[in-house]
Amino acid sequence: MLAAAGSSIGLGNIWKFPYETGLHGGGTFLLVYIPCALLVAFPLMMAEVLIGRYGRGNPIHGIRHIAKQEHLSSLWPVIGWFGLISSFLIFSFYSVVASWILFYIMQSAMGSFVGVPAEIVQHSYGALLRNSDQMMLWHTIFVLMVVVVLTRGVRGGLERALRIIMPCFIALLIWLCVYASQVGDFDQALHFLASYDLAAIDAELVVSAMAQALFSLSVGIGALVMFGAYMRDERSIASAASWVMVFDTVFALLMALMIFSIVFAFGMDADSGAGLIFETLPVAFSQMTEYSVVWSTLFFTLLLAASLTSAFALLEPIIAALTQGMNISRRLAAWLVGACAWAGGMLTVYSFNELKFSFYYFGEQQSNGVFDVLNIVATHVMMPLGALLIALFAGWRIHHGETKSLLAMRVEVAYRLWRFCTRILAPIVLGAVLVMVLFFPA
Ligand code: PHE
Repeated sequence: MLAAAGSSIGLGNIWKFPYETGLHGGGTFLLVYIPCALLVAFPLMMAEVLIGRYGRGNPIHGIRHIAKQEHLSSLWPVIGWFGLISSFLIFSFYSVVASWILFYIMQSAMGSFVGVPAEIVQHSYGALLRNSDQMMLWHTIFVLMVVVVLTRGVRGGLERALRIIMPCFIALLIWLCVYASQVGDFDQALHFLASYDLAAIDAELVVSAMAQALFSLSVGIGALVMFGAYMRDERSIASAASWVMVFDTVFALLMALMIFSIVFAFGMDADSGAGLIFETLPVAFSQMTEYSVVWSTLFFTLLLAASLTSAFALLEPIIAALTQGMNISRRLAAWLVGACAWAGGMLTVYSFNELKFSFYYFGEQQSNGVFDVLNIVATHVMMPLGALLIALFAGWRIHHGETKSLLAMRVEVAYRLWRFCTRILAPIVLGAVLVMVLFFPA
């Protein structure tokens, strides 16, 4: 469960949630996001873990095993393959965003922003994006960090890392929230997150909210199948998933509160997009009179820890599938996947500078080339499609008696609700999202 929480809390909560919330008008976004998370992503989280418990293996082997047991089509393991491709695509932009954090940790620790005028600090983000050599360096370091931990295996590397990372993580978050409530404009942040405008809800907002819920809870690419496979049998899937869901949502909300308190206190733009945390936070920290170096270094270290645990969860299923499927050592598989992921990430690195291009999506100009394409393809198309297939597989293809005994929910109504959401609601919502993205994205 620790590992599942570690994987679900990451850049999705810290980087994507605040900027999507900022872009889509605060409370209006939350109004759509929360039902999407609760009624679609959460039941599917349970479905994925259930598949892992039943199949006892990585998404491809596990689903193949279930298909045999249930006499289903041998095409279902395609979900596993599909998930591995999605994980790889997500990692190739995730690792680049995470690597910016390394840059900010270094700048913060060196005190580069202390006492520097706000405009100059703010420009450091743009300057970093323009400097592809610098980005390549940080990206390489981040990928190396992930691969080195993963070569040591899930039971060794990942668990040992998480046991240290998670408690530090929680302590730092609580501390930073208290701190933000003192220096920031907490009231305005609260107001921003609590007020909504129903007329502002459009197709793009619904697609973004649904995609954000899947991304934040790591649903739709088979990452949770791995946790189901490793989880002890006596552990209840529903309670583990509930804890992760609560933890993930509370975390995202606290991050947003903290970030917007600072954004409003320093008169910055809430809707500046993917650069929100990187443009505004260093500025805020630079304006502080005391211990700015310590606070900013701590904050960016917290972000790094969170993104590392999610990065492990993105690559782990690919490594597991390679070691089992090709019969190669874990070490070799980790280096191989790491090398490919590094190369894939380079496309993202160059999409902010040498290979920059723009296009329109739902009437909005997207100007970061491959980065925006990957972000949209992976989170607006691949994840909803993967989640839809998982809903159909767990809801309609696995025998009802089997899901019931695997989930072992004590309250019958809760099980029925899960079944309704998985069989009916999720396919309708995800189907609608896919139709909007694929046929009406103009
Ligand atoms: N949920 C992670 C986050 O919020 C991202 C992730 C998605 C991790 C899918 C693993 C699988 O950052």
